[in-house]
Amino acid sequence: MSTDPSGFQAELKQEIDRRRTFAIISHPDAGKTTLTEKLLLYGGAIQRAGMVTQKANRHQTVSDWMEMEQRRGISVTSTALQFDYNNICYNLLDTPGHQDFSEDTYRTLMAVDSAIMLLDAAKGVEPQTIKLFKVCRERGIPIFTIINKMDRPSLNPFELLDEVEKVLGILAVPMTWPIGEPGDFKGVYERPNRKVHLYERTSGGQWKAPVATAGLEDPHFAEMVDEHDRNLLDEELEMVEGLIHPFDVDLFHEGEMTPVFFACAINNFGLDNFLDHFTELAPSPGALKTVEGEVPPETEEFSGFVYKIQANMNKAHRDRVAFMRVATGKFQKNMSVKHLRSGKKVKLSFPYRLFGQKREIIEEAYPGDIVGLVNPGLFRSGDLLTAGKPYRIPSFPRFAPELFCRVHLADQTHNKSFRKGMEQLGEEGVVQVFYDPRSYSRTPVLAAVGELQLEVFKERMKEEYRCEVRFERLDYTASRWIVGDFDSPEAFTFTLMEDEAQRPVALFRNEWHMNQVIGNEQDLTFLPHPPDVEA
Ligand code: G4P
Repeated sequence: MSTDPSGFQAELKQEIDRRRTFAIISHPDAGKTTLTEKLLLYGGAIQRAGMVTQKANRHQTVSDWMEMEQRRGISVTSTALQFDYNNICYNLLDTPGHQDFSEDTYRTLMAVDSAIMLLDAAKGVEPQTIKLFKVCRERGIPIFTIINKMDRPSLNPFELLDEVEKVLGILAVPMTWPIGEPGDFKGVYERPNRKVHLYERTSGGQWKAPVATAGLEDPHFAEMVDEHDRNLLDEELEMVEGLIHPFDVDLFHEGEMTPVFFACAINNFGLDNFLDHFTELAPSPGALKTVEGEVPPETEEFSGFVYKIQANMNKAHRDRVAFMRVATGKFQKNMSVKHLRSGKKVKLSFPYRLFGQKREIIEEAYPGDIVGLVNPGLFRSGDLLTAGKPYRIPSFPRFAPELFCRVHLADQTHNKSFRKGMEQLGEEGVVQVFYDPRSYSRTPVLAAVGELQLEVFKERMKEEYRCEVRFERLDYTASRWIVGDFDSPEAFTFTLMEDEAQRPVALFRNEWHMNQVIGNEQDLTFLPHPPDVEA
């Protein structure tokens, strides 16, 4: 007799199995925006790629939306993109490209099951890639590698593989191999099925690249590729087959081995077979990691966690959206769930599917999906919502800020919207907002990891909250959250502040000062992130 009479478990399992939730990690300029759009093209979500290569026209890119980004060609925000292709449902969680916003990227990486590491073929492994790679490594998520811009003069493919292995400490196994001299990229040889794929360019790479496929021994191959390129491929493949480790799917799932693909995102070369392998190898949504242990996604009761808050995404709806990843069970519109941090019951009546800037109401969602919830100030990153047991999840990463300034409002009549902007942008994580616990005026102190965060804050205060603000720089360069009891803060040589949750934070003039204090104050613990928040 069936133990699942309504077929609910079978449906849930089927929906989980067909989902792939992932992000792209890269150093700025490696081609992430271009690749994102091309994956949408190959995944059938858009019919024609916009001119993403021309930064002035970036407004055509669904994943970029902020005016400042368009003007300056930088990416500081992130969205979620869902597309369905060949009965597979892909959730691509877009991450900001700029390093000052890497905290945002880190949080987004908490919500994916795999990542694509995108490298520029001429530059190899760059600093921001290393940082993001480490986060993926710590989370143990499988990583695909795409080596992009093969149409340009680039490093030798062997050098690139060697660099990945040496710098990142992961085994790199080429699944495809480039055809043609560096800078004259014609296509790829796909190792697992011994097929050659040769591409043709389309105007501006707007359409899928027409491809001719043949076996190595196929006479057609000799017609398509000249003798020089054939000999080069022969030589290189001999070395590859002799020297490179065989691909091992278990090592890949453990994050110890990365399958490597060569591509040119701008002309769409090598993307079709990448997507096929990605679909086959990328894991479907995994278990929810809680303090109490792992909870499988097939668990009947719904649970989900918020990984990001974004205000004013859409000018037509000036509100705050919480991005929630469904972790277990089935999500349904109008369901009542428990918000564990506050202990409140909330009815989720307006769940959205987000597609860049666009949104539409959804009726249901499954593990791996991202649901946009309009946030009445209740949700924060790291919050868990559940219709089942009260799990606790480990706290989300936060970076210790290194730039500090008091923020002043030019026109006091805008005080109310100033407070609102401060609260909302702080909640979103654009900057962190600290207060001096002894000051009656409670003049906020903005704390950031990078300069651009402050610029974005200023710009968004002006554009979205109609407030002109002025910064007064403070002479601190390091900070730590403090755990422990202290009665007389006056005795300390650091400056004491409180974060938005009234947790004590110490600000230091420099690293040396910080290390001295940490060495002297043995009764206190100094953390580079807030202490874990109990759910
Ligand atoms: P990002 O989001 O990682 O920062 O990179 P983005 O896609 O914006 O690409 C950065 C630059 O690299 C862009 O050029 C883009 O056109 C180019 N690019 C992306 N993929 C490829 C590729 O496969 N081959 C080549 N040759 N270039 C590629 P740009 O000069 O910054 O802008 P534009 O002047 O081309 O508009």
